[in-house]
Amino acid sequence: MTGLVLAIDQGTTSSRAILFDADRKVAGVGQKEFAQHYPASGWVEHDPEEIWASVVWSVKAALAKAGRNASEVAAVGITNQRETVVVWERATGRPIHPAIVWQDRRTAPLCARLRKHGLEKTFSKKTGLLLDPYFSGTKIAWILGKVKGARKRAERGELLAGTIDSFLIWRLTGGKMHATDATNASRTLVYNIEANAWDDELLGLLGIPKGLMPQVKDCADNFGITDESLFGSGIKILGVAGDQQAATIGQACFEPGMMKATYGTGCFALLNTGADLVRSKNRLLTTIAYRLGGRTTYALEGSIFVAGAAVQWLRDGLKIIARADETGELAARADPSQQVYLVPAFVGLGAPHWDAEARGAIFGLTRNSGPAELARATLESVAYQTRDLLEAMRKDWKGASGGTVLRVDGGMVASDWTMQCLSDILDAPVDRPTILETTALGAAWLAGSKAGVWPQAAEFSRSWALDRRFEPAMEPSLRRAKLKGWRNAVRRTLSDT
Ligand code: G3P
Repeated sequence: MTGLVLAIDQGTTSSRAILFDADRKVAGVGQKEFAQHYPASGWVEHDPEEIWASVVWSVKAALAKAGRNASEVAAVGITNQRETVVVWERATGRPIHPAIVWQDRRTAPLCARLRKHGLEKTFSKKTGLLLDPYFSGTKIAWILGKVKGARKRAERGELLAGTIDSFLIWRLTGGKMHATDATNASRTLVYNIEANAWDDELLGLLGIPKGLMPQVKDCADNFGITDESLFGSGIKILGVAGDQQAATIGQACFEPGMMKATYGTGCFALLNTGADLVRSKNRLLTTIAYRLGGRTTYALEGSIFVAGAAVQWLRDGLKIIARADETGELAARADPSQQVYLVPAFVGLGAPHWDAEARGAIFGLTRNSGPAELARATLESVAYQTRDLLEAMRKDWKGASGGTVLRVDGGMVASDWTMQCLSDILDAPVDRPTILETTALGAAWLAGSKAGVWPQAAEFSRSWALDRRFEPAMEPSLRRAKLKGWRNAVRRTLSDT
């Protein structure tokens, strides 16, 4: 068998398929964007059929670009936007409602009701999460409550539910496998991360019949074989992980204390805490980093909803840049004496504030403030938010104190200016690897190592290569002053002030 391994990366705005060769180099890529639907304020939906078509198209395109056949591929790994849910018919595979996306806030009232009944502790203790509309459980409950007859049909076993990975596995295997992996399960609000099982009490509280939920497997496991009719030959699905966890694996953060941050639409920082299930006292999430060979590795996670999305806003909303990669250059021209702060709470604030009602704000504008100052404030906001996460992690877990190096990936990390700014604000080194396709690489590694054609974790870790390390170079007094200004800006942005 060749060492060719395919990764399907089903993200929030596009689906990608990446074929890696035996040396873990990219041999072919297929990518397709799909539509975002905003049917009401704070609502975000995807069409599951469009997602499915974009995945099939991307796989075919990646194989064609590399000039390879499906029969030559040893295995496929799937990674996906997390928390987004689909409910579909067991008999036909047809979704009964559009996918409700992780960013969607429609279940905020349900979360508030559960909180009012004093249930946040119950959910947090078992799942490591908070009662926020971000997570899947309340979204499934919403679909069951809203679509006529859905709950009855669910009880009769006619429906199935899952995150995007489960929906894709079901479709790819021609309806033979209803499964997910432990990382995706850990984002649903109904999965007990200590017992590693769906939780009857939480399912009951949300009115979700257990039969709706997929079987939960290890991240490197047998998830079935793709139906021959799709790509000409069946490919074994041997790896599955949520995209942030896949990036953690792709960054080879296998040791406790190692940390990565991915800068895409949002920013998600994961700190490996090993076998320690660390309960956050600072409103971070406790989540499953990966489960391999039946052993669970946990992580502390900080989730920021807006990072690259703020740069998109500069481009598409304010139109002060033509391309996202111009932002660093523009920011470098900003007048350093101006203290402009942008709090990008466009969809509320995630960790560590979890304020769904907060909205964005800009502070410190003068007559001289222009595009350059706004660009700098935007990029700095990403660094400040990451700093808030790192501080919370340090308070929560001694393994994160001192000596932390942040491994970074995602579209924004190509900018040297942004990475230097990040290191300056964090007062910690920032490592940018040579391979920036870390999410896809992580999914491919799960599948390739399970197939026996790629190395195990230790050798894979040794092949992680540094492109550039950014070291902090900012005067401590300046950093202190800037952080003070940021905290003040956040305080004034929170919804209860
Ligand atoms: O939790 C949401 C996250 O998985 C989304 O990632 O890269 O698709 O924006 P991305």
